[in-house]
Amino acid sequence: MTQRPYVIDTMISAKAIAARIEALCREIQTEFEETDKLVVVGLLRGSFVFIADLVRELDLPIEVDFLEASSYGNTMESSREVRILKDLRGAIEARDVLVVEDIVDTGHTLNHVTKLLKSRKPHRLKTIALLDKPSRREVDFKADWTGFEIPDEFVVGYGIDYAQRNRNLPFIGKVRFVTEPET
Ligand code: IMP
Ligand code: MG
Repeated sequence: MTQRPYVIDTMISAKAIAARIEALCREIQTEFEETDKLVVVGLLRGSFVFIADLVRELDLPIEVDFLEASSYGNTMESSREVRILKDLRGAIEARDVLVVEDIVDTGHTLNHVTKLLKSRKPHRLKTIALLDKPSRREVDFKADWTGFEIPDEFVVGYGIDYAQRNRNLPFIGKVRFVTEPET
């Protein structure tokens, strides 16, 4: 697939992300201080960097599991139909669960995933999203914790991709398309 040329402008620095994660983890720790085991569920693939930083900042007994739901293909369109491509390995019945997502955009993905996981009767299920684009919401969903609310911009980095690229940027950047110079 050919990509229109684009540049990436920094939106949230690595330092700002780290500071926000520290603050969020203090709240999460208070919420789950009594837990004997917290299952931290990362939504693949976009949350892999966020979950890695998050769990290292949490002083709690945790397990890590992953779930993959389809949302975006290699386009910028959000799909309304959410499918589970890879389910959890472990059972979550009677467990404390924290679902970790990169971005809440239309809300369909986390809305669907939390409904599915709640049907498995966890003791407590909470959600955290690094980013939230409230202006794009199509279903009524709000994560229990949000790192940053951002405007309706397409972002990459810190695990988040554009057509599978740019996940390895250490910061969140916004994609800005540029016109190719005439040749
Ligand atoms: P939702 O179901 O519309 O809330 O979509 C959530 C998913 O869409 C996120 O997990 C991302 O994978 C993807 N997504 C939403 N906005 C962006 C973006 O700005 N850049 C890259 N992926 C995005
Ligand atoms: Mg995603």
